[in-house]
Amino acid sequence: MRGTTFQHFSKFILSLACAAIPAISVAADAPAKSAAKSPDSKQIERGRYLVMITGCHDCHTPNYIAKGGKVPAKDFLTGDKLGWRGSWGTTYPANLRLYFKNITDEQWIQVAKTIEARPPMPYFALNAMTRADVLSIYEYIRSLGPAGEPAPRFVPADKEPPQPYVQFPMK
Ligand code: HEC
Repeated sequence: MRGTTFQHFSKFILSLACAAIPAISVAADAPAKSAAKSPDSKQIERGRYLVMITGCHDCHTPNYIAKGGKVPAKDFLTGDKLGWRGSWGTTYPANLRLYFKNITDEQWIQVAKTIEARPPMPYFALNAMTRADVLSIYEYIRSLGPAGEPAPRFVPADKEPPQPYVQFPMK
């Protein structure tokens, strides 16, 4: 019967398609995945350089300014207990080693574009960065791996923070 033949034929086509699709999608996925998920050493190196010259260590690495940058790499970007107090309250530079553990590269691109943190975080510098630079920073900090403790919580302006803190004019 015609109907049966057609059914057989369409089943045959279907099974061909099913067999072919996974093969095609694996082939198409593979290069994209490795580009996005396994950073090359150049990208990590670029991130290391950007983090240094754009000053992220100054606040996010403990004792970095006081020691002229001579801080062991294990402490890099682990956040700081040194508070920054002003009319906004008292803020603490986040532990970026832990922060980057919990965020995907796409989420980070979005954060960098839109972040508005309290002082003295120079969020506007992040907002101005290219997507490629923002991604390099991501890959570099991820390559360091998680370490350290979360930074202390924000203290509102009407509360006295524990020492030590940097005092800005309270206007
Ligand atoms: C002058 C000090 C300073 C510098 C320089 C600095 N930060 Fe920050 N950063 C802070 C402080 C303080 C906070 C917390 C702000 C708040 O509580 O609103 C913060 C917050 C952040 C956050 C938000 C974390 C969260 O939990 O939401 C990110 C991400 C961040 N910084 C990344 C960077 C990067 C990347 C650089 C380098 C381009 C950098 N910071 C440079 C002081 C600084």
